[in-house]
Amino acid sequence: MAFQKKISFDVTIYDSFDELSEGDKLLMSAAVSARKRAYAPYSNFFVGASILLENDEIIEGNNQENASYPSGLCAERVAVFYAGANFPGVQIKTIAISAAALNHEVSEPAAPCGNCRQAISEYEFKQAKPIKILLMGETGGVIECDSVADLLPLGFNSSYLE
Ligand code: THU
Repeated sequence: MAFQKKISFDVTIYDSFDELSEGDKLLMSAAVSARKRAYAPYSNFFVGASILLENDEIIEGNNQENASYPSGLCAERVAVFYAGANFPGVQIKTIAISAAALNHEVSEPAAPCGNCRQAISEYEFKQAKPIKILLMGETGGVIECDSVADLLPLGFNSSYLE
């Protein structure tokens, strides 16, 4: 018999950066500095992502664009792949993301694209421990999600390949 099931999740909304814990402020500040080094001459949309590893190391990444547009990569994947390449087996605790644009103010938290959600969820599934996500624009509030799985309901993972 068919039935309907609601899939929902909770987020924490902070009115501003100032409301974050000291640790999360540090991580978000790393995302902001990474954002300022983004290479985005085509979109003029600059994204920074910082990752807190379980060994307390912080990894930074930013979007890297290309004259052949699809060859570029989002900040989140630059950061998460760097972590995977250089710290294999070290768990990811939190990812902070900040976005800004050249021609307008990004005052709403910028959410990761679908490809980045999938890429981050690969690591979350592998480590079997939720990765916290903090989202911020250039100004305005911050959204905190408890897990990437929340942002990618009914997601695909390696269990299907077994
Ligand atoms: N971008 C990111 O870096 N992360 C996202 O989650 C969304 C989009 C980048 C890709 C491209 O360089 C620019 O933002 C505009 O899409």
